[in-house]
Amino acid sequence: MKEIRILDKKFRELITEKAIRNRLDELARQMNSDLAGKDVVFLGILNGAFLFAADIFRRIDIKARISFVKLASYEGTSSSGTIKELIGWNEDIKNKTIVVIEDIVDTGNTLERIVDELAIRKASEVKIATMLFKPAAFTKDISLDYVGFEIPDNFVVGYGLDYDGYGRNLPSVYTLIK
Ligand code: IMP
Ligand code: MG
Repeated sequence: MKEIRILDKKFRELITEKAIRNRLDELARQMNSDLAGKDVVFLGILNGAFLFAADIFRRIDIKARISFVKLASYEGTSSSGTIKELIGWNEDIKNKTIVVIEDIVDTGNTLERIVDELAIRKASEVKIATMLFKPAAFTKDISLDYVGFEIPDNFVVGYGLDYDGYGRNLPSVYTLIK
């Protein structure tokens, strides 16, 4: 088992690069078949989803566009409790099929915020794709259409996800060793 260190913490490999690649193929195949004939905008949520969004999008062979928005927090690095604003909207999403591309759905707070915003902007249909999902931490009643991997409720890094800004470039997913 591969182990790595980032700053003060140790992590163990949880999902290999090859497993990620295989799952990407499956998810994209499913999307290509589900979304054929629609006017689709893939909406990547920065920063974490940049790799997943790129890897999925290059496997998409239907008519589609891609755009990115970013959640700007007003304070700190913790995802809990802070008010966040979604910035960077430059795509008209009214009456479009939107595929939200997330790196991870944890509590679902972020996702809920995005789904609400898409309703305000009158998307005709919203699909959710996330590379990772922590079912044990999820508190919302939102259905996820494309899930890469369900994982335990433990902190992870790699494949876009960071610990204090580092680890996003790791090609596989690592879990914290407590
Ligand atoms: P949620 O709002 O609780 O679902 O969490 C959303 C955001 O917190 C994600 O988009 C990530 O940026 C971050 N996050 C949640 N869990 C992890 C983790 O295990 N590692 C790194 N970032 C995480
Ligand atoms: Mg994120």
